[in-house]
Amino acid sequence: MADRRVLVTGGCGFIGSCFVRMLLDRDPGAEVMNLDLLTYAGNPANVASVERSSRYTFARVDVREIASLKPWVEQCDVIVHFAAESHVDRSTSENAGSFVETNVGGTFAILEAMRRYQPEARFLQVGTDEVYGDVEAPQAPDEMALLRPSSPYSASKAAADHIALSFERTHGLDVLVSRCTNNYGPYQYPEKMIPLFITNALEGLPLPLYDGGTQIRDWLRVEDHCEAILLLLDSGASGEVYNVGANQEPEKTNAEVTQMILDCLGHSESVVEPRLGLRPGHDQRYAVSTEKIRALGWKPRRDFSEGIEETVRWYSDHRTWWMPLKSGEYRAFYDAQYGRAAEIDKV
Ligand code: TYD
Repeated sequence: MADRRVLVTGGCGFIGSCFVRMLLDRDPGAEVMNLDLLTYAGNPANVASVERSSRYTFARVDVREIASLKPWVEQCDVIVHFAAESHVDRSTSENAGSFVETNVGGTFAILEAMRRYQPEARFLQVGTDEVYGDVEAPQAPDEMALLRPSSPYSASKAAADHIALSFERTHGLDVLVSRCTNNYGPYQYPEKMIPLFITNALEGLPLPLYDGGTQIRDWLRVEDHCEAILLLLDSGASGEVYNVGANQEPEKTNAEVTQMILDCLGHSESVVEPRLGLRPGHDQRYAVSTEKIRALGWKPRRDFSEGIEETVRWYSDHRTWWMPLKSGEYRAFYDAQYGRAAEIDKV
């Protein structure tokens, strides 16, 4: 019998799968139940290394359906809720309804299932620093700061955080919220900036750098983020929010990150294609104070320059992982977003 049965939603996604692999590796007493609907960004290949483990179970479940969640929630001790629609560009260019349904409705459904069937469990809502909105330098909001989400994506995540915390206050459930900065690393779906730019560069395609590339994101290595979640499950306090960020010094603009990627690959700047207006309401800067989680003993351990190099190498070495992803549904999205069907056709 396992010491703890951990229900992970969205465990076939980028961050969720890193967490599943890390938890099974580091905690021999943990059993993982991975519930994932396998929508476009959920990929069973991300958890191929653990799928034979006797401590791992997968089920294709829609987190919005309380009845489907019941048999899984009933047997868990801990829930880590990653499942979400997460791409800002999709939330501004497509029907944002799926963001509300999955991110708000899914969070509500899983909390309601926990309230009904397993009220003693611990629930961790994996959130985002984007709920604080555009942050003027040199500010770095702490967990008490006002939420000012800009996009339908970040607004849906802010709502999900509030729902989660309301279940703690109203029903006395053990609920905590983490809010991370932008993650990067292996297995990230190539719609997000870093894997998109690396894979485009590897394919000889242009790098669509938005709005002058002056924007700032606090890039956090996904393994550092997952270590923070492991710590919070053990040491975080119920009803509390914890920011998780790299606090990069100096901060990096998108243009600088792009240059680092190009340097790793030995490409010239000429592949950068400036694009304007593709991201309405584009936030200029994200940053968070991480004092609260640092006081619990966490800090990011991975250096960004090394992390980018390792990440570029990983995508170079794992073409069979990402090449199939850049067709089908992704291709339709890419064409609609960037209007660059002709470029992809050349490959
Ligand atoms: P992204 O990876 O989509 O994450 P988020 O919007 O959650 O921060 O974008 C990171 C930054 O990169 C953001 O400022 C937008 C920019 N960006 C581009 O310049 N070009 C792109 O094609 C994409 C996807 C993002």
